[in-house]
Amino acid sequence: MRFHFEPLAENVYLSEDGSKVFIIDQTLLPNVSKVIALQTAEEIYEAIFQLRVRGAPAIGICAGYGMFVLAQQIRTEDPQEFLTQFRKYKEYLNSSRPTAVNLSWALTRMEGVVTANLSRPVEEIVRLLGEEAVKIQQEDIQMCRAISEYGLSLIHDGDGILTHCNAGPLATSRYGTALGPLFLGKERGMNFRVFADETRPLLQGARLTSYELQKGGLDVTLICDNMASIVMKNGWINACFVGCDRVAANGDAANKIGTSGVAILAKHYGIPFYVLGPTSTIDLSCKTGDDIEIELRNPDEIRSKFYQEPMALPEVKCYNPAFDVTDHTLISGIVTEHGVCRAPYEQSLAALFEKAI
Ligand code: MRU
Repeated sequence: MRFHFEPLAENVYLSEDGSKVFIIDQTLLPNVSKVIALQTAEEIYEAIFQLRVRGAPAIGICAGYGMFVLAQQIRTEDPQEFLTQFRKYKEYLNSSRPTAVNLSWALTRMEGVVTANLSRPVEEIVRLLGEEAVKIQQEDIQMCRAISEYGLSLIHDGDGILTHCNAGPLATSRYGTALGPLFLGKERGMNFRVFADETRPLLQGARLTSYELQKGGLDVTLICDNMASIVMKNGWINACFVGCDRVAANGDAANKIGTSGVAILAKHYGIPFYVLGPTSTIDLSCKTGDDIEIELRNPDEIRSKFYQEPMALPEVKCYNPAFDVTDHTLISGIVTEHGVCRAPYEQSLAALFEKAI
């Protein structure tokens, strides 16, 4: 089978012949910017699990391309047998990280291409899978742009913005979600003072957000997570912008661990707190945040990762949830590619899906 793709200038993209997924290895940033190739199911799983590719939309894009790459490795002419093997890869990749719904969303979308075309030859199904994977990324580019526009309408030139974790271009395509309005505003000659929480324990804020903003020429100040309160108290923050990994039907939003603490502080200081993300991150099958599975990660990320020497005894117990859920009552608005949803979220999110269909 021969394919030809024009590689998009993105942090996740397909090789020209469609046989590999390329990603920027985000674990090496900010010191080394290196592109790595993923070809086997194990490599794709490992890259998602270890956060070489991370951020809900980027994980979805990688999974879409990954399934296309793996589909080409299935050796059968029988569409039904192809589906059986395709589903094994799908389930395997889906088990790499549980919280970001974009992973299962993209995998299910790819599976839908197979089930809808079982009457066609396998070769044709594989070609359609390639088209779908490219579409997922192209839609993400448009989605980020639309979210950036809506987000920008909520802030003013000169504002101070606090963000947590990384929801910028590295986590998506092009503009990003939570950082998108800031990059778009910059393009239009606006200036913001951005405060980036370093985001323990994996330091996405320090390693990725401050890197992206600094390189983009924005005014960014890196703070430790426990400094969010003082910068708010100082009057330096006009709004908080964060991304999301899964939003429940009632507006409860899962995002990187520590996000809910930022939202509680923002409420205390009377600062609007916005969650920015695509409709693909909204999971109406979760009624509330209690239905969202929270990923638990290796305790060594707290004890020793990033330190020259361990900072706790190896036998010390650690609790390392990768995400928390921000209660919908703390959220001033959920910014999607179709507009800004406000409370009551049951109604506004349901209406959003009706509009999107
Ligand atoms: O564990 P990570 O780094 O994948 O967590 C990422 C986040 O929490 C982001 O804020 C979220 O995925 C939104 S990315 C646009």
